[in-house]
Amino acid sequence: AQVVNADFVKSSVRPDDCPRDGLPEFALVGRSNVGKSSLLNSLVRRKRLALTSKKPGKTQCINHFKVNDSWYLVDLPGYGPARPFLGEIEGESRALLLQILLEWIWQQSPTHGLSKKLVRIYASAPQEARTNWDEFTRNYFLSRENLVSVFLLIDASIPAKKIDLDYASWLGQNKVPMTLVFTKCDKRKKKKNGGRKPEENVETFQGLIREYFEAAPPWIMTSSVTNQGRDEILLHMSQLRNY
Ligand code: GTP
Ligand code: MG
Repeated sequence: AQVVNADFVKSSVRPDDCPRDGLPEFALVGRSNVGKSSLLNSLVRRKRLALTSKKPGKTQCINHFKVNDSWYLVDLPGYGPARPFLGEIEGESRALLLQILLEWIWQQSPTHGLSKKLVRIYASAPQEARTNWDEFTRNYFLSRENLVSVFLLIDASIPAKKIDLDYASWLGQNKVPMTLVFTKCDKRKKKKNGGRKPEENVETFQGLIREYFEAAPPWIMTSSVTNQGRDEILLHMSQLRNY
């Protein structure tokens, strides 16, 4: 199940533009910043095969990487808020924080560099309940015949997010085969700072997802820092391909 070689093949903007050689493929999906590109690089043991630099969350392409000349790893655009800032804070505390922020900006001179920056951050905060991801990604899931399984990445270092549950349930409802991959399992916040262990976040997510599925999808714990789960994913992929 080891990776001998891996190459970038192409970026496509429509499912019709994707490679047509019919080789089996696995798509990595998940919220912006969840660690899709990092996981892809970890799987193929390359530092920068999948680009992480250009504007996070802004990629609007389906990226095909060919592995061992015989199957594809596919990097899809992230969904959800592009910046893990106000979008991570929900409900009343978000409203309160926005109020404080806006009052603070008001007090600053409009030419103040920092206040300009904060206005920009506020402007780029996500619309509430932005659960609609691009139609072409949806079309890709529904029309791509050689798609063996979607690998849905969930950040294990933060509490379960509704948008991730919505995404998983949409895939389930549309009978798209799915494997859950929990990322950043190396990250441990101190309990006294309100942080929870990755295991606790994973357990909560598993509990919530059971309400959507009769049989829970397979799942793997990973870290691109320690390479935890790398061999498990590659083995799982080879079993799904039957070779
Ligand atoms: P988009 O391209 O914006 O959709 O993000 P992405 O899902 O491709 O995430 P990316 O791989 O660029 O990683 C985002 C950030 O998370 C980077 O700063 C990574 O270094 C960090 N990161 C990714 N995986 C891990 C991990 O397993 N552990 C830790 N500690 N950090 C990680
Ligand atoms: Mg990326």
